[in-house]
Amino acid sequence: MGNKICVDAGSMYCPCHLAKSGDCISCSLLSGKELCECDLKGICIYQNFKRNNEKISEPREGILCKVLKHKEIKTNIYLISISIPKCLAGELIHPGSYILLKDKKRKDDMFNSPISVMNVDLENNILDIVVESIGPKTKDLLNSDTVFIKGPYTNGIFGIKYFKQLKSKKVLIVTKGLSSVTLINAVNNLLKNNNEVKVFFDSCGKKIEEVERKLKELNVDLECFDFRDNENLIKKELKKGVDMVFSAGSNHFNKNTMNIVDSVDDTINLAITNNNLICCGEGICGACIVKVKGEKIKTCKTQIEPRVYLKEALK
Ligand code: FES
Repeated sequence: MGNKICVDAGSMYCPCHLAKSGDCISCSLLSGKELCECDLKGICIYQNFKRNNEKISEPREGILCKVLKHKEIKTNIYLISISIPKCLAGELIHPGSYILLKDKKRKDDMFNSPISVMNVDLENNILDIVVESIGPKTKDLLNSDTVFIKGPYTNGIFGIKYFKQLKSKKVLIVTKGLSSVTLINAVNNLLKNNNEVKVFFDSCGKKIEEVERKLKELNVDLECFDFRDNENLIKKELKKGVDMVFSAGSNHFNKNTMNIVDSVDDTINLAITNNNLICCGEGICGACIVKVKGEKIKTCKTQIEPRVYLKEALK
């Protein structure tokens, strides 16, 4: 897949234990090669690691946080509001942010659930998340009054570079179901950079009204319709001229979006939600690995070009 971009490269969490074990995602020298093959600008993970006597950065630790509110917003789907430290709140506003969450009684990290950030209230340091009750880990959270939060993790979106590059451009967001919780951070970021944003909700999916309400507060242009019968509404919008499409849905939904976009113009930048199974979030367990062109990629930390991912990993 060529040079790989680790989302943590150059951050306060880099170099991590993968540098020590010879498995660094971005640095070829720290993963056993003789030549530097990285594309990182202004960051040398190798030098940082060597200069610090091969000491790794402090890893993310679970922080004990108080749950303020649980509310069932759909059958088995809950909105949970959590009071979090100010420093963490500031880190969770980036598109693609997620956390690992477990009940305070649980000592073992196997109870951690990866949960996307829905909204962060920076004035009051309150994090809102949406949890679907599907198994022991998530059921636990619904009765918790105190939880451990580990974060920030930031690889919840593939194609994040397009968000970073975009200023005063036109963006179309298409979404379906629970993946729409990723929209608030994404839209806030796009609006901050003066972009014009339009959102199409697929009415066939579970609709999270809180997301819709928040987007309306942000004055985003929203439309809701059944995508199955109305693909041409999406094509019509694309033909008006769009610089980036963000598709927030299942892999099947995102692939369908790619096909629609490519049928109009395959040079439009595409970003998609990362729907892979996440367990440790740190590149250790391998739960998130997908094969792209025969290469194993740890998707909890590695950015993959969305079209390559949709065409190669989901064949
Ligand atoms: S989730 Fe453990 S390696 Fe990615």
